[in-house]
Amino acid sequence: MRPIADVEGPEQVRARLEETGYLVDDGLAMACFLALRLHRPIFCEGDAGVGKTALASALAEALGAPLIRLQCHEGIDASQALYDWDFPRQLLHLRAAEAAGVTDAGRLESELYDRRFLVARPLLRALETRPSVLLIDEIDRADDEFEAFLLELLSEFSVTIPELGTLRAEEPPVVVLTSNRTREVHDALKRRCLYHWFDHPGFARELAIVRRRLPGVSARLAEQVTALVQALRGQDLLKPPGVAETIDWAEALDALGASEVDAELAVATLGSVLKYREDAERARGLDLAAVLAARGA
Ligand SMILES: Nc1ncnc2c1ncn2[C@@H]1O[C@H](COP(=O)(O)OP(=O)(O)OP(=O)(O)O)[C@@H](O)[C@H]1O
Ligand SMILES: [Mg+2]
Repeated sequence: MRPIADVEGPEQVRARLEETGYLVDDGLAMACFLALRLHRPIFCEGDAGVGKTALASALAEALGAPLIRLQCHEGIDASQALYDWDFPRQLLHLRAAEAAGVTDAGRLESELYDRRFLVARPLLRALETRPSVLLIDEIDRADDEFEAFLLELLSEFSVTIPELGTLRAEEPPVVVLTSNRTREVHDALKRRCLYHWFDHPGFARELAIVRRRLPGVSARLAEQVTALVQALRGQDLLKPPGVAETIDWAEALDALGASEVDAELAVATLGSVLKYREDAERARGLDLAAVLAARGA
């Protein structure tokens, strides 16, 4: 497959991503094109379920490259993200060497810190895999020190392991960082990236996504569900549904054998799309039949 990095412009990036089933708007096509062309990480921020993580998988598929994922969490550190030494194997090696009568401490030490005892975690794997797509998911969950550490790694695409020396990526991985904005990520990290804010899609694009993801679902049902979700997002909900929930809802209704939905069935299946009691209550108070009628559904 032709490397996606060779594509001439945003339109081609859009077409290649669409082939994988991931639909982008003009802004995201441009951001992806520039990220690939300039070898810059792309920083994806937005509400839950709007397709931030899925972008990395789509890019990997379009590129024909493995997706290497680092899920961030509170307290994540370099030994979980970058590399660690395989202590049990080192110990076994030490015992075997001792049993064989090796006593030279210098030799033992250099043998113990050999590359084969190094466990590569996602960041190191991405530096050593060419080409690759590195997804650093939910960076807002990690703490400040980890952010600072990433900043360094993403500027140089190299890492220094005291016992082994400096390892540098021959070709920098395509990097996708995501954040749900539970806290602000530092400007210094953002400065190294191209930024894209993920809005909820409009009706036409969301319908196209549902049709693409669930080709077996009736066109009418897909349209109705999309219209209902778009109307729900217009309410002041605690957690507005993302594209993920639209897909889930359509799938749930399809699983019930429905090829269309009315207000009653919509209310009965709200648990697929709204995950707070207050939001469900608000939805029940809405005239869902009117929403469906307005779409001519
Ligand atoms: N533009 C799109 N094209 C195709 N599918 C999409 C698109 N946007 C979202 N989806 C689908 O919506 C679902 C949710 O997307 P994803 O998990 O990437 O959201 P997210 O923004 O990472 O959410 P979270 O913040 O909760 O992790 C996925 O199944 C994905 O396939
Ligand atoms: Mg995600």
